[in-house]
Amino acid sequence: MQYAKILGTGSYLPANRVSNDDLARKVDTSDEWITTRTGIKFRHIADDGEKTSDLAVEAARRALADAATDADEIDLIIVATATPDMQFPSTATIVQQKLGIANGCPAFDVQAVCAGFMYALNTADAYIKSGMAEKVLVIGAETFSRIVDWNDRTTCVLFGDGAGAVVLGASEETGIIHGKLKADGNYLGLLNTPGQIANGQICGSPYLTMDGPGVFKFAVKMLAKVAEEVISEAGFTAEQIDWLVPHQANRRIIESTAKHLGLPLEKVILTVQDHGNTSAASIPLALDSGIKNGQIRRGQHLLLEGIGGGFAWGAVLLRY
Ligand code: UT7
Repeated sequence: MQYAKILGTGSYLPANRVSNDDLARKVDTSDEWITTRTGIKFRHIADDGEKTSDLAVEAARRALADAATDADEIDLIIVATATPDMQFPSTATIVQQKLGIANGCPAFDVQAVCAGFMYALNTADAYIKSGMAEKVLVIGAETFSRIVDWNDRTTCVLFGDGAGAVVLGASEETGIIHGKLKADGNYLGLLNTPGQIANGQICGSPYLTMDGPGVFKFAVKMLAKVAEEVISEAGFTAEQIDWLVPHQANRRIIESTAKHLGLPLEKVILTVQDHGNTSAASIPLALDSGIKNGQIRRGQHLLLEGIGGGFAWGAVLLRY
């Protein structure tokens, strides 16, 4: 039995760090409102010339170095993003070119917004388990600052830019144990960016729209359910989880999931305060942070979970 094991992780946040007070000078908001409602203190914003693929490449380089893996050893690249560089080709092929990978390995994007990293990780796991790939670069990368309306205080304070990456390798040692993906397109009205290129124009709003309280209620319910299912289907109990590594959208949603699972906050990786909601990048950003600061250690069991537009959501249980 071949497992998909995490060989290394890396992440990247753009240099421009924007505080809640910085935002309060531009829109009618306050550090107090943002902190109490979301837990967010800072977000990072990409420079004009910095594209999603640039963030992805920086995170990927760090993950490859951490995994002591040459870029040419990679035989599949998956990029989870809802803010690709271009309509086409995929950001994954641009990343392949920027990393100088010339072995012709397949490269594609997955689009599941904030659940994107769960979708990408599960897909990579299936490739490795089936023997179709041995070393996979899985990246979550976003420039959400480009699709938020900076005059809309109900959304612009929530999001940020960033990237996180993992190198997965086929291994006899236990790695990804069990994962589950879910989607329900009936809820697309709660969270979307409708604009699309058609007939030489952008049709529909190019900005993210969200029913915040609606998303909140749905997220709390579905994350608890999928997390519980993954744990029990794997034959585990919540007490065996060393770390919850959740999508970093809102501290209150994270606390609610942890509480539902009976996990104390000391077992939760929390980075939302440092980078806000970076969509598909937030789970690998949190994972890399937890590993690099020594919280997460080899041999520990991690539960990763995320939810986003679609709606799409999922969770993965793994041994690090
Ligand atoms: O990655 C998945 C995607 N997104 C999420 O997970 C987000 C899920 N939702 C949430 O995190 C929360 O619903 C929000 C943080 C977005 C909003 O928090 P809330 O406690 O649900 O607030 P609300 O939308 O019910 O708004 C409460 C009040 C409103 O004023 P009134 O109508 O009570 O007078 C808003 O206009 O807060 C006001 N408000 C703000 N005030 C200051 C909304 N945004 C702001 C703001 N600053 N930035």
